[in-house]
Amino acid sequence: MRFDILTIFPAIFDSYFGESIINRAREKKIIRINVHDLRRWAGDKHKTVDDTPYGGGAGMVFKIEPIFKALKALKDAKKKTRIILFSAKGKIFTQKDTRRLAKYDRLIMICGRYEGVDERVAGHLADEEISIGEYVLTGGEIPAMAVVDSISRLVPGVLGNSQSLNEESFGNCDLKTGNSDMEYPHYTKPEIFKKWKVPPVLLSGHHKKIEKWRKKAAKRK
Ligand SMILES: C[S@@+](CC[C@H](N)C(=O)[O-])C[C@H]1O[C@@H](n2cnc3c(N)ncnc32)[C@H](O)[C@@H]1O
Repeated sequence: MRFDILTIFPAIFDSYFGESIINRAREKKIIRINVHDLRRWAGDKHKTVDDTPYGGGAGMVFKIEPIFKALKALKDAKKKTRIILFSAKGKIFTQKDTRRLAKYDRLIMICGRYEGVDERVAGHLADEEISIGEYVLTGGEIPAMAVVDSISRLVPGVLGNSQSLNEESFGNCDLKTGNSDMEYPHYTKPEIFKKWKVPPVLLSGHHKKIEKWRKKAAKRK
């Protein structure tokens, strides 16, 4: 699976994608993450990618031309590709979307900044607009990290133990109703911290009872 991220702040991604599970998956070449500086496709010597909004108003807006050129350079007709624009007013991203998007060969993601992106990008270039929650961030870089991370976990080989995927929260999502299970609560040593005890059933060694307790506890969650 390959991710292409368009941003004006490529360095933001170095730390997060350079650690832990995602880094190992990159090293093993199970996933590829290419971060591109959108300014590479700017048309002038000042590398301008934004301009003032038509009709007036505060702030600057990302221009369509550099994004169009970047997409043209990155698209490969042979690969099943989806173009995502991050936007606070997009569709809220859920675990159901991670499963849907994990089926593509390549995801190209556009991270907006300032007042946002010329609406023609959403209308004519992007396949979908994704929001990661009902709040406004400074840019699309954190959404891109969240989306790459959550989809990568579903790519075979990225997580060592794929069994844990089925047991995770939202793992058994009913695609028709959208109803999903939450994962059961976890505990680890010590058995008692202050006066707070681990549920005794988890110490019983009785696997059937533990399974039953976990199912009930997950439902309560
Ligand atoms: C400051 S925001 C623009 C907000 C825009 N003026 C509005 O009111 O919806 C700049 C960029 O951050 C990204 N962004 C902000 N909040 C987001 C969210 N909740 N989900 C996804 N992307 C978001 C988008 O790419 C957006 O273009």
